[in-house]
Amino acid sequence: MKIAHSVPFAGKPSIHAPSVFGASTGKPVLYRIPVTGKRPLAVSVAGLADGLSLKDGVISGSVAEDAEFFAVVRAENAEGADERRIRFVVAPDTRLLTPLMGFTSWNAFGSKVTQERMEKTADALVASGLADCGYGYVNIDSGWQREYGGPFDAIQPNAKFPDMKWFCERTHAKGLKCGIYSTPMLKAWGCPEEFESIPGCSRGEPDPLYSCTAPIGSEKLERNNVRQWDEWGFDYLKYDWTPCDPTHAARMRRALLGATRDFALCVTVNAGECYWKFWRENCASWRCNSDSLDEWGRIKAFLDGIDRWKPAVCRGHYFDLDMMETGALAWNDGRTRITEDEAIFAYSMRAFFQSPLQLSCDLGRMTDFEFDLYTNDEVIAINQDALSEFPERVEGDKENLLTYRRRLEDGSTVFAVFNLSDAEEERELRFDGIAAWRDLWAKTDVARCARHVCKVPAHCAVLLKATAGDAKGAVPVAGGGGAG
Ligand code: GLA
Repeated sequence: MKIAHSVPFAGKPSIHAPSVFGASTGKPVLYRIPVTGKRPLAVSVAGLADGLSLKDGVISGSVAEDAEFFAVVRAENAEGADERRIRFVVAPDTRLLTPLMGFTSWNAFGSKVTQERMEKTADALVASGLADCGYGYVNIDSGWQREYGGPFDAIQPNAKFPDMKWFCERTHAKGLKCGIYSTPMLKAWGCPEEFESIPGCSRGEPDPLYSCTAPIGSEKLERNNVRQWDEWGFDYLKYDWTPCDPTHAARMRRALLGATRDFALCVTVNAGECYWKFWRENCASWRCNSDSLDEWGRIKAFLDGIDRWKPAVCRGHYFDLDMMETGALAWNDGRTRITEDEAIFAYSMRAFFQSPLQLSCDLGRMTDFEFDLYTNDEVIAINQDALSEFPERVEGDKENLLTYRRRLEDGSTVFAVFNLSDAEEERELRFDGIAAWRDLWAKTDVARCARHVCKVPAHCAVLLKATAGDAKGAVPVAGGGGAG
């Protein structure tokens, strides 16, 4: 399927910040306002609370008291201007009020991750324009760890990470945030081949209460490790074990809340549904699925049972569909094995279900198609929509054609149609309902009438936004070509 081409450093300015931004009271704020358009480009902001200021398009500082205010961001260049009103919410324990966007290293580098590769990734996010589309986190996955030591008796990095503090400072200087990885288990997954094992946030004898899983130690060291990550300057933790239990998640969360910095917490890999209230209250995101892989079967399996997370997902708390499986991956010799249509499917489901959007490939080898896939501002906007209402499955589906709708904060409705069928021909679905329809991947208005026929290639997805009409009443009606 053809998708719109993006040119982030051309034309009038366009501000891509979500309508809401959260920060924790008294903790450091760092926010690189995503703005595309021809350079040079001047960004200004009016209405910031005391304690915050803007420099080179990045808001930093901290707000001492709880506050809620609107700031107006303005961007100007030789071709024009754009303005956006953003609601800032400053309250204890507040951040990531829309899904995380960034890079996470596992699919890209596996356990061969290095500080140098992460630094190059941060540079590429900025140089390519990805950071200006909203990708703001640079997350180190497993593979950085070596052994306990240092001033806090915490896990120290291996020789491939010569200076974690410098890495964080360097990344922050670009307005980007940094993520780190650990586990409550005695031994972390993702051990580099040159080591026998790498430690997690526990030590000592296996804790008999958790002996059914990979062992977790009786001596718990969350606070030691958080003090170390805090001192280095991290902003986000991916905490990985199975099954994820609220006891260890709560211990880690308390430790993170005690840090001087503001940490977002993601739990993975098996955050069971029975604890959904806990994940919703305590985690920026949680996973309960297999690792992403560049295989069609694995991609479509992400949608199995996704509806069960409806009560759990809300603003600031999202179900994680794992890193993208596109591009040059650690295991595939430079090329993903999925087709472009499957990549559109994979990105669409993450954008539409408000999963964190985590790129995970060698950004130096990104194709033009991949770049266009990652930088469609209209698709990203539905991922970053501040209403954060969970999609609703639409009745009247054809077999192997899944249709969902979701309300957006501007009152419009976005429909997603996922074609799971293996039959080669594209499938058609007719939408009856008076609305102005826009194809978000093509970035074109497709119809301004009561009836729109949408064509979805096999293993692909279409995202349609319906505005200015009876969008809520729009019903997809099975019809047209393609065998079931
Ligand atoms: C698990 C996770 C992956 C990655 C690896 C690291 O498999 O699901 O995302 O973090 O561990 O070993």
